[in-house]
Amino acid sequence: MAFNQGRGRGGPRGGGRGGPRGGASSRGGPRGGARGGRGGSRGGAGGRGGRGGARGGRGGKFGAGGAKGGAKVIVEPHRHAGVFIARGKEDLLVTKNMAPGESVYGEKRITVESGDKSDGSAPTKTEYRVWNPFRSKLAAGILGGIDEFGIAPGKKVLYLGAASGTSVSHVSDVVGPEGVVYAVEFSPRSGRDLISMAQKRPNVIPIIEDARHPQKYRMLVGMVDAVFADVAQPDQARIIALNSHLFLKDKGSVIISIKANCIDSTVDAETVFAREVQKLREERIKPLEQLTLEPYERDHCIVIGRYLRSGN
Ligand SMILES: C[S@@+](CC[C@H](N)C(=O)[O-])C[C@H]1O[C@@H](n2cnc3c(N)ncnc32)[C@H](O)[C@@H]1O
Repeated sequence: MAFNQGRGRGGPRGGGRGGPRGGASSRGGPRGGARGGRGGSRGGAGGRGGRGGARGGRGGKFGAGGAKGGAKVIVEPHRHAGVFIARGKEDLLVTKNMAPGESVYGEKRITVESGDKSDGSAPTKTEYRVWNPFRSKLAAGILGGIDEFGIAPGKKVLYLGAASGTSVSHVSDVVGPEGVVYAVEFSPRSGRDLISMAQKRPNVIPIIEDARHPQKYRMLVGMVDAVFADVAQPDQARIIALNSHLFLKDKGSVIISIKANCIDSTVDAETVFAREVQKLREERIKPLEQLTLEPYERDHCIVIGRYLRSGN
């Protein structure tokens, strides 16, 4: 597959891939309207207000609470396994809640009932959590149309730069009960929230350590299928390489969120992205895809790569 560079286009895309857009990889599918505010209150009941004020605050589509899906919301699988689209008045990216009844950062929950009630059996209730692309670069990348996600039910994922666990919680939903998320964060303050989130999610292993020293958590982490990095550090490529060489299986997925001005604010974002991709190549990570994260983040991109342990 040729290295595919593109711009994020926003809006939830559905399960199918739509018409070809030319080039090596055709993406598409239904585009919805999931733009809007950076809404949603943070941190549950005691959280800070949403970033976007009126556009997406508590009542906004991403915002707090346990909304009932009822008859109006239909949840369909997205083309990336473990990710779903809730189709209602507006289409929203959602994940199946591993800890039903709990929000992690004040995100909206949607309960959908299914099953044939005509035979007297009780309907099955499934709860989903809205995944806000303004709060998660992974969600922004999925809505932007990444082709190779690398994170799916049953996968083991090493997540570097977990912060308080907002996005980690969605990765936990995606990999589900058969998967594992090793979540590394070096800030003790964020680490406290991460640990408390992990208490309700048995598939999350919080690790409060510096990702520059993976040998310190070597005893806690097994071989993984994917490494996701969002550490926003100038030496991010080196951090990813150190962790991949130690924990990532051959042909495993590498997913990196790159914030240009965290790496070099003296050159333009495209130059930073190109340099980072070259550093990955030198570490046996073959780039497959690159996508900028507009309209959700400016001067950010996601790069997806494949780790080639033997170098070819
Ligand atoms: C951009 S934030 C991550 C946001 C998070 N991925 C999310 O979507 O919720 C970057 C995080 O990486 C953490 N970090 C930076 N350098 C690190 C390192 N060397 N080891 C572990 N964590 C690090 C920071 O403390 C910060 O919480």
